[in-house]
Amino acid sequence: MKILANDGMDKNAVAYFEKQGIPVNLEHYDKETLKIEGPKYDIIIVRSKTKVTKDVIDALKQGRTKLIIRAGVGLDNIDLPYCAECGISVRNTPNSSKHSVAELVLGQMLNMARYINRADYSMKEGQWKKKELKGFEIRNKTLGIIGYGRIGKCLAEKAKALGMEVLCYDPFCHQDANAKKIELEDLFRRSDFVSVHTPSLSTPIITEETLKLMEGGYLINYSRGNAVDEEALIQALRDGVIAGAALDVFRNEPNVNQEFFTMDNVTLTPHIGAATEEAQQNIGQEIIEVIEDYTRTLQEVAG
Ligand code: MLT
Repeated sequence: MKILANDGMDKNAVAYFEKQGIPVNLEHYDKETLKIEGPKYDIIIVRSKTKVTKDVIDALKQGRTKLIIRAGVGLDNIDLPYCAECGISVRNTPNSSKHSVAELVLGQMLNMARYINRADYSMKEGQWKKKELKGFEIRNKTLGIIGYGRIGKCLAEKAKALGMEVLCYDPFCHQDANAKKIELEDLFRRSDFVSVHTPSLSTPIITEETLKLMEGGYLINYSRGNAVDEEALIQALRDGVIAGAALDVFRNEPNVNQEFFTMDNVTLTPHIGAATEEAQQNIGQEIIEVIEDYTRTLQEVAG
């Protein structure tokens, strides 16, 4: 068996496979090279950089590739129906990064409530903005979580521990001890912070209309860029309809709408929700489990 980790992989997982005599190629191939080199590998592991589109899958199905693993949660960079049609299995690692993403969201709530990044850069510009930077406590404030899966639930638990009231909206999940499930429109109206944790969406959930419902609140998006109508958000931030936003994901990564760079009330990070030592180690471990499970199933089928 041969593995291509086209967007890299945690070193412990690489060492594990090499100890088993399974070579792991860590080289990154661009699309055209991937079409030539990829079919030589049984398993291809990708993060978000590699786009597994129809033409790539057409090339892979000619060769040995039988399994694609997304080292992360979102599967939006892989054409899932076409993989299924071509007999290539796809798996992800949904359990590994929830704490890292939830901690970064909490960090951004505290940052927006206390102007931490603004205080830092204004001081470095020689200013002492003590009066202007009067913030507020997040304790007793309301956090609305849209998309109540693993990350949403993990965030709710941590936010509740900090004394926040937590609301959630998800058509497929139930409320729990940490969050009260309510209608989406009520969530927008009642939340001081709205944090989006949905899978990739075909139409934005954050629009001119929903931003109006959030009047005076803060938006956090750590899901996918297409959850947000970016033009509507820029207008709402300019007009003061909402107080601020923290964005980790963008419609056209890594080419971020330059308008955001001119705004004080938006905090940007370059898609680093899962970029921690722990999340990457966990992902490596989850990849090992996925591959062991996959080979076990193959052996059982082969009798
Ligand atoms: C994910 O889907 O797991 C995250 O967006 C992290 C990433 O792709 O880097």
